[in-house]
Amino acid sequence: FQPKLLAGRRLLITAGPTFEAIDPVRGITNHSSGKMGFAIARAAQEAGAEVTLVAGPVHLPTPRHVRRVDVQSAQQMHDAVLPLAAQHEVFVATAAVADWRPAQMNAHKIKKDGKKVAPTFELTENPDILAAVAALPQAPYCVGFAAESEHLLQHAREKLLRKKVPLIVGNLGPATFGRDDNTLVLVDADGHRELPTADKLSLARALVRELAERLKTSAE
Ligand code: C5P
Repeated sequence: FQPKLLAGRRLLITAGPTFEAIDPVRGITNHSSGKMGFAIARAAQEAGAEVTLVAGPVHLPTPRHVRRVDVQSAQQMHDAVLPLAAQHEVFVATAAVADWRPAQMNAHKIKKDGKKVAPTFELTENPDILAAVAALPQAPYCVGFAAESEHLLQHAREKLLRKKVPLIVGNLGPATFGRDDNTLVLVDADGHRELPTADKLSLARALVRELAERLKTSAE
């Protein structure tokens, strides 16, 4: 009998974009589909883990036996994740969280009303959810993602240090938003290793194997 790789482990995952409201009908968001995070949730659950998935606005079915919490904004994602973090051994942040939100949400739809001057918005910074979780006294093993258009390794290294997390997973190659396949590179303090191009579920399974190894080593 071979016990499952993540039997008895608890994983918390963020996925998808966030939506930062400007007024009741408009907002700032991005093209994250949530597919990578949902694939990791599925692969971890299949490997025996108890999985909590905090999802921004996406159009994806909940993987089987995964507990899902839906949120809209970065602040809501932060407020949902922080109290859950201490109950999990691993935190995987795949969400494409908006860095900025409108400083004020207009209670009513902003109207043109014949005005010739375009409205301007003041923006304010959103909390960094991954950095906040990594700074908790009982922090889970934290994994960040990096989607960059250039200098990926350099940015991934910089994220490791800035967010104080042990592992950053980089998306190599052209924009992967919404696509089914991807190429990942694992970046940690010791160096980097590529996971060859595959569909997101295969990559998620490879990442789950990697996490199981790292949890084993950190427990030794
Ligand atoms: O450099 P950047 O802040 O975009 O780093 C991306 C990583 O940090 C991803 O894992 C993303 O989910 C996480 N992140 C977060 N909260 C933010 C911004 C990014 O958790 N406000």
